[in-house]
Amino acid sequence: MPDAMFITFEGPEGSGKTSQIRLLTAYLQQEGYTVLATREPGGTRIGDQIRACLHDVANREMTAVTEMLLYAASRAQLVRELIQPALADGGIVLCDRFADSTIAYQGYGRDLSLDDLHYITQVATGGLQPHLTILLDIDVERGLARRASNAEEMNRLDLETTSFHQRVRSGYHQLAANDPARWALVDADRAADVIQAELRAIVHRKLAHRCR
Ligand code: TMP
Repeated sequence: MPDAMFITFEGPEGSGKTSQIRLLTAYLQQEGYTVLATREPGGTRIGDQIRACLHDVANREMTAVTEMLLYAASRAQLVRELIQPALADGGIVLCDRFADSTIAYQGYGRDLSLDDLHYITQVATGGLQPHLTILLDIDVERGLARRASNAEEMNRLDLETTSFHQRVRSGYHQLAANDPARWALVDADRAADVIQAELRAIVHRKLAHRCR
């Protein structure tokens, strides 16, 4: 199906991904597309249980390798249970974080071997890659401040140091620079409607390009 498209959203904490995805989902559905919006970690019954374990601030003793494998496990379930079937039906899948989060957070942030992460990611995703990845970029301190104003959402990774989050952000910049055909960099420190207009334009361009 020409419309089947897998789009992922990445970014540091507090970049506003979740509300932008909600707006984009409603817009694309109005345009007549079949859209599945999901998130990582989680998105499935099993994945949501893994998410609770990963984000529980009481799990202070969790090692970096355990953390990485749990993110990969949640991803393995999501790909097979939801993403692959939705793409096979010709739908658009919008995913709030995907494998690039592992490279940015566990690789650049936690300093795990990038080769190991690529291998585990390949196993978890079965080689599935996004057609488009949107990086909602924001200054780390601005993002963390936004995030802190929504205490309900705080998780184990929000408790990391600012320098950890800075490494994550530079990791994202590196990933985007390495593969500009897949990545679109969007300044997330602007009004929500301005960001949304840019996202719609990016997605339309990609859809037009793929249908040609
Ligand atoms: P969020 O759903 O609020 O973005 O929270 C997800 C958190 O999990 C966020 O701090 C980034 C982190 N994360 C990783 O560290 N590695 C991963 O592979 C994924 C998917 C998320």
